[in-house]
Amino acid sequence: MNTADAILDMLRDKGKVSGEAIANRLKVSRTAVWKAINTLREVGYVIEGDAKGYVLTRTPDLLLPQEVNGLLATKTMGRRIEHHYTIGSTNERARQLAEEGCPEGTLVISEVQETGKGRIGRSWVSPKGGIWMSLVLKPDIRPRDAPVLTLAGGVAVTEALSRIGVQATLKWPNDVLVNERKVCGILTEMSGEMERVHYIVMGFGLNANFPLEDLPSEIRSRSTTLRKEMGEAVERKRLVADIMKGFEAVYGEAPSSIIERWKRASSTIGRTVQVVTKKGFVKGLAKDLDGTGALIVRDDAGQETTVYSGDCQHLSGLPEG
Ligand code: BTN
Repeated sequence: MNTADAILDMLRDKGKVSGEAIANRLKVSRTAVWKAINTLREVGYVIEGDAKGYVLTRTPDLLLPQEVNGLLATKTMGRRIEHHYTIGSTNERARQLAEEGCPEGTLVISEVQETGKGRIGRSWVSPKGGIWMSLVLKPDIRPRDAPVLTLAGGVAVTEALSRIGVQATLKWPNDVLVNERKVCGILTEMSGEMERVHYIVMGFGLNANFPLEDLPSEIRSRSTTLRKEMGEAVERKRLVADIMKGFEAVYGEAPSSIIERWKRASSTIGRTVQVVTKKGFVKGLAKDLDGTGALIVRDDAGQETTVYSGDCQHLSGLPEG
């Protein structure tokens, strides 16, 4: 058990406890106790302190394993949860666990990320109230077949949001949008050889219950949160369990069926797009996905380009119908 969880157990058990008693009991320094108490306060615990000690007066909504477990209806996904109050990046931690041989479906969740990672080397701001989680997958596939699995993550999130009344769409490859603003990003990282995937870490970053002002001003106008769209806070633990259930189902499907589901939920196909790739950019009509999940773009001259990765921007409005 980590220091923060052990402190919570003591406060729940004993009411008021001095910093010194905690430090002695847990065999850590007073500074470590103080740091852990601050971390707990940052994620929403109200811990009052005076000369005689600390008292826990309010417990926040947290994604603790015991809370999520009770709602999980999966065989594999999320069956083992590692929870953190704060961490650098859940993807990094999930990779570490995968290297150590953790079982498929292991889920790392953190209330806050200090150095969250986005796609294409960007950073991902991850304040408290969001859903920041990474899932370890061990599919028996070749690396070249992995992109379709990434699409499965977006399908699972979009379908789970629709079940709570939020109409979300997918922007290629895997941004989840509500009213054209990003509510969720997915970062998939892989380790493997030419012919064999060792493991995949799929990181979900879902803007759930925090004020939009918690995001940097540069991305605020392109982003949204579930709380803003729904007008009330979402029950995060239920949503996590539902995404896991939906993902487990899509993950077991054939690539062609994942692609069909992705296309049904997508707002990219039929739009004029610009995709920035490593080699430059491609602009034109987003015509379709190929069998690997790559985007087929037709330019004004009628020439078609297949784009395997990149940053896609919707240039035109939604197609009719
Ligand atoms: C994107 O750029 O759209 C992808 C963002 C992915 C963010 C999530 S948050 C949980 C996981 N841990 C990370 O460091 N990144 C992913």
